[in-house]
Amino acid sequence: MVKTAKLIVNGNTYELPLVVGTEGDTAIDISRLRSETGLITLDPGYANTGSCESSITFMDGEKGILRYRGIPIEQLAEHSSFRETAYLLINGRLPSEEELNAFSVRLNDHSLVHEDMHDFFEHFPPRAHPMGILASMVNALRAFYPEIPERSEEEEINLTFSRLLSKLRTMAAMSYRISMGHKIVYPRHDLSYCANFLNMMFDSPVRPYLIDDDIVQALNVFWILHADHEQNCSTAAVRLVGSARVNLYAAISAGIAALWGPLHGGANQAVVEMLLEIADSGGDPAPFIRRAKDKNDPFRLMGFGHRIYKTYDPRARIMEKECNKTLNKLQKHDPLLDIAKKLEEVALKDPYFIDHNLYPNVDFYSGIFLRAIGIPVNMFTVMFAIGRLPGWISQWKESVDDPHWRLHRPRQVYTGLKETDYIPIEKRK
Ligand code: SDX
Repeated sequence: MVKTAKLIVNGNTYELPLVVGTEGDTAIDISRLRSETGLITLDPGYANTGSCESSITFMDGEKGILRYRGIPIEQLAEHSSFRETAYLLINGRLPSEEELNAFSVRLNDHSLVHEDMHDFFEHFPPRAHPMGILASMVNALRAFYPEIPERSEEEEINLTFSRLLSKLRTMAAMSYRISMGHKIVYPRHDLSYCANFLNMMFDSPVRPYLIDDDIVQALNVFWILHADHEQNCSTAAVRLVGSARVNLYAAISAGIAALWGPLHGGANQAVVEMLLEIADSGGDPAPFIRRAKDKNDPFRLMGFGHRIYKTYDPRARIMEKECNKTLNKLQKHDPLLDIAKKLEEVALKDPYFIDHNLYPNVDFYSGIFLRAIGIPVNMFTVMFAIGRLPGWISQWKESVDDPHWRLHRPRQVYTGLKETDYIPIEKRK
């Protein structure tokens, strides 16, 4: 088995070590490249660059495989809960029943949000996007929950994990209630993580929210599917900001900001807006497919394509099933689902999409599920963020525990002016 890669530059030959992963994925370790050769690499968007070694999530983009701590996503979606999957990602193994119960109690104990934070929520402009509110409020958590010197670093970190996992969900519901001009609904000790969220969102004194176990289960699956995805854009942001040794709230806030983008987590909102546009224009997806293929048109088919998956995103298949099950259970019919299925059918027969390996990703069906359970479109990416939080936490923790942890500071290839002199303003043209 070859253990090194040979690099020949200007007649000099260099040997660089190879790093081989559990599933045979192999990388050239270039950590000594500049010191030995004076060279750096260039890789816009890091499509060919690994930032770390990680034991959390494995993806095979060609085969459409996704595993958290070795367990296939299909099995977790079928058998696990979001809390249990969060524990698995953060602690590296499935919990015992006792450990899971203790984890649930801890999340319950930290599910309230400091009352003084309510004022913050009430003073955001009414049309403020929930992702901007969430990123700001998560960053503000450090101010309301400062470090206590008497606590050990480990206690402080575990407390922060519990606060984030529980309060981010509560804050999302609070933000929605306040935006609707409704009273905040507090978390309840007798409801599970997902049931509590739905109750905090939709309970009303005039129409009590009836907890439907099938909908709670579907929300568990939705958040399990979103829980981690190796070094995606927002996770890379959490690791990069975290590498400056800033507090975890600030690093997670950076992840929320990155996830907001329509090319990333914001795609679930963009998909539904695109499907609504297709519906409003008569329901024929052909013009949108034409636009997506037009090099001169910046329009992208939202919910299609992926940096890693060059086949069907395994999460999209599960999400489509959850959509069907939820709509049937609620006895709802969403015309957008028909349009989505038609769009997928036409696109997957089109040579452009086949040649570019463009398939539905997790965002393609997730918005239809969220619509079905009553989540407003502008909160779709907040729902993604709640799901991705355990992944961000586990990846941050892995980077903190990494003996090779360094400040992330990429280099560049400079293509600007050679040295030039300052021109006094009176001499400028
Ligand atoms: C998520 O990284 C993750 O793991 C992310 C995520 C997670 O769980 O964290 O999976 C969540 O972000 C899913 C992706 C959600 N985004 C969208 O659905 C937005 C639409 N998709 C694209 O914009 C695009 O596919 C990306 C951003 C997802 C991936 O883009 P890449 O890998 O940078 O690919 P690219 O932009 O270089 O495109 C390669 C080619 C180009 O054509 P050519 O110039 O080579 O001829 O494919 C074309 C692109 O024009 N292309 C598309 C397209 N996606 C890529 N053409 C039309 N519609 C699309 N959706």
